[in-house]
Amino acid sequence: MALTTLEDIAAYLVSDGKGFLAADESTGTIGKRFDAINTESTEDSRRDYRELLFRAEGMQDNIGGVILFDETLRQNAEDGTPLKDLINSTGALPGIKVDKGISPFNDLEEVITGGLEDLNERCAEYAAIGAKFTKWRAVIKIGNDIPTQECIDANMKALADYAKIVQTNNMVPIVEPEVLMDGEHSAQSCFEATANCLKTLFSMLDANDVNLKGTILKPNMVVSGTDAPIQASVSEVAELTLKVLKENVPSDLAGIAFLSGGQSDLVATEHLDAMNKIGGLPWPLSFSYGRALQQPALKAWMGQLDNKEAAQEAFSHRALMNKLAAQGKWNAEMEI
Ligand code: 13P
Repeated sequence: MALTTLEDIAAYLVSDGKGFLAADESTGTIGKRFDAINTESTEDSRRDYRELLFRAEGMQDNIGGVILFDETLRQNAEDGTPLKDLINSTGALPGIKVDKGISPFNDLEEVITGGLEDLNERCAEYAAIGAKFTKWRAVIKIGNDIPTQECIDANMKALADYAKIVQTNNMVPIVEPEVLMDGEHSAQSCFEATANCLKTLFSMLDANDVNLKGTILKPNMVVSGTDAPIQASVSEVAELTLKVLKENVPSDLAGIAFLSGGQSDLVATEHLDAMNKIGGLPWPLSFSYGRALQQPALKAWMGQLDNKEAAQEAFSHRALMNKLAAQGKWNAEMEI
C-alpha cells in the first residue's frame, strides 16, 4: 500500500490489530527504567536496548508505528544502519515525540505541556529525516478541586494547535490527553474528567480544521485511581471506556490507541481485549503502550548482552498478545 496521504498513513498505523510501541522515553525517564534494572543509561546502552526491541521478531505484523525520542531518530544501530531504517524494514513506521514536557500551570499542582514555539521548524526537520507521525502528551490530574476547566482548556488548545502544525508538515498527529491514574478517585471521576477532556479536545480540533481521518487519539482508559479503595472490574473498565469514547469521539477519526498509564502488562492487554470483544465501534481500538509492552523485556534484559534473546522473546510475546487483544482474539491461556 502506497502511504502517500495522511489518511493512508493513519489507517496503516492501526490496521489489522497493529498498534504502537511507545519507545519515546525522555533521557530522564529511560534513566529511571534503567536504574530499576541496575543498568547505566548511556547513549550506547539506550541504543543497544532499543535496537534489540526493533530487531525482535514481534515487530513484524504486530507493530504499525514506533514512537521515538529525538536521540533515537538520529541514532544508528551498532552496524551503522539508521535505527529509523531498521524500523521501516520491519513494516512499522517511525514517529517522534515532539512535546517538550510539562511545567506548572497554577498553584493547584496542575501542569501544562510546552513545545509549540518552534514546533513548525522542528516538524519540518523531523519529516525530512523520515518521521511519518508525531506525539504530544497533555497531562490532567484528578484531586481536590482539580482538574480545573482552565487547565483542561489550555492543554486541549495546545493539542489542537500542535495537531494543525503537524498536519501542515505532512505527518499524522497522535493527540494524547492523559488523565492520570494517580490518586484515590473513583472510575466515575475518571469518566467525568476524560469526557470533559475529549469533548473540549474535539471541539478545538474542529475549530482548527484538523483532518480527523489523518489523526490518531491516544487516550487513557476509564479506570479507578491507583489508591481507590474500590477498583472497577475489567468489564466495568471496558464499558465505561467505550461509553466515554462513543459519547465524545467523532466517528471519522482514523483510530484510537490507548496508553497503558501504569496498568500492568497483563491488565492492559485484558482491558483492550474486553473492549474489542464488545466491538461495534466506528474506529479501530488498539494500543500505544510504553511500560505495558516493555516491562517484561526490560526485566529479562537486565542490561546484559547474554539476555538479548530472552528480552526479544518477552517483547515479541507482548506485541502479539496486544495485537490479538486489538482484534478481541486474546485469552488468558495464551499467556506463558
Ligand atoms: P505508557 O503506556 O507507559 O503509559 O506510555 C505511553 C506513552 O507514550 C505515554 O506518553
